[in-house]
Amino acid sequence: MRVGVIGIGHVGLPTAAVLAHLGHEVVAMDSDQAKLDSVVAGQMPFYEPGMQELVRSEMDAGRLRFTADVAAVAAGANVVFICVGTPPKATGEANLLAVERAGAAVVENATADVVLVEKSTVPAGTAERLTLALKRYKAKHRFWVVSNPEFLQEGKAIADSLHPHRILVGSNSQEALDMMRELYSAQIESGAHWIETDVATAELAKHASNAFLSMKISFANAMARLCELAGADVVKVADAMGSDPRIGREFLNAGLGYGGYCFPKDLAAFERLAEQLGYDFGLLREVKKINDEAVEATFKKVEEAMWNLQDKRIALLGLAFKGGTDDTRLSPALELARMLKEHGAHVVGHDPQANENAARELEGLDIAEDIYGALQGAHCAVICTDWPEFGELDLGKAHGVMAFPILVDGRNMLDPAAALAAGFTYIPTGRPPVGPAHEEPRDHR
Ligand code: UGA
Repeated sequence: MRVGVIGIGHVGLPTAAVLAHLGHEVVAMDSDQAKLDSVVAGQMPFYEPGMQELVRSEMDAGRLRFTADVAAVAAGANVVFICVGTPPKATGEANLLAVERAGAAVVENATADVVLVEKSTVPAGTAERLTLALKRYKAKHRFWVVSNPEFLQEGKAIADSLHPHRILVGSNSQEALDMMRELYSAQIESGAHWIETDVATAELAKHASNAFLSMKISFANAMARLCELAGADVVKVADAMGSDPRIGREFLNAGLGYGGYCFPKDLAAFERLAEQLGYDFGLLREVKKINDEAVEATFKKVEEAMWNLQDKRIALLGLAFKGGTDDTRLSPALELARMLKEHGAHVVGHDPQANENAARELEGLDIAEDIYGALQGAHCAVICTDWPEFGELDLGKAHGVMAFPILVDGRNMLDPAAALAAGFTYIPTGRPPVGPAHEEPRDHR
């Protein structure tokens, strides 16, 4: 099929490459010419494992092209994906102007009947609203707006898009649903679960999925606070809970909490949507509150360990919103860095991929090119993201270069016994701290 993709961000670019890989003829469009030029030259605008190779091979195969011209996307397309940004307004509501503009440009330039796919995360009701809005533009052909929410995770975008667990498509038109089923026929034949609903249900299911995952994380973080008070171990609590298949172990990792451009923004938009519909979804406010407290709790651990934060050198391992990405948008690590800096600490960070983005986002943040450079002379180190290399830290070497051997583990990456054996005061999240300062009171009990 002939497919257009508008917007080559974290969703659009993997979507375009994977649809080309499925054998479709794909034209991807972005209004940012510099971004397009660098993609065509093989330079990806963000880090995503496997993406550079896939984009290159699909371009070489002639199935993937890039353009800045929306008419070139619309011409001859059977399906056009709208993957533009939907940034939050001050109220938390999603700003859908770019969605309307992209849709209008497609219907005005289409040369055949076309399915417009909402791929950006949008509030329930958007497809209906967009359909109404687009009817005012000069469409020469029939068009349908369908919702096909994205479930890919950054850092795993290519694998998630190549082998999705589920493909959810919502539309009120059987003709449009059939076209979407044909588009994904190869993946459906390979076992992806095809779910067909009306359009509002698909939109709500996307919000519900992200809100539920955020809620699991906040539940784990609330348990972490409780475990710290009770002297229990949140990792073991999560293992015990997660071994029940009705609960599941994933997304029960306590730590600095969730960040990124999806969960915080989606949760705010979902709460606002519920309010507009007349339902007070107070649970979502509580999820956010617990998430905010997760960063504060980590900050307090550092403050408590340092006693006087002023002029202390604090090393942050991990600056992206999670491991596996260079994305620092709404990163809990940067939020922690801001708080530490406000209290006079000297903050130096290192991330395997996100150094540049972090430096751009947070003025005055010192960046080290490697882990041990960050730890050099540090009075305390905080593990902020779950990059595997932080779990494989050479504790002997780290102890050798740090000024004070104090580790705060905001992602529970290290083995407490190993940290203790290496001579560290080790302060994890929701598990008992170990080390000289923590053993003493126990000895006197
Ligand atoms: C999330 C969803 O997982 C995807 O299914 C969805 O498609 C995407 O949002 C979206 O709506 O676009 P993503 O934001 O890439 O994907 O990242 P996740 O892997 O879900 O992690 C989100 C945050 O939660 C990260 O900050 C991560 O560190 C944190 N997290 C995750 C925890 O604190 N604990 C956990 O147990 C799991």
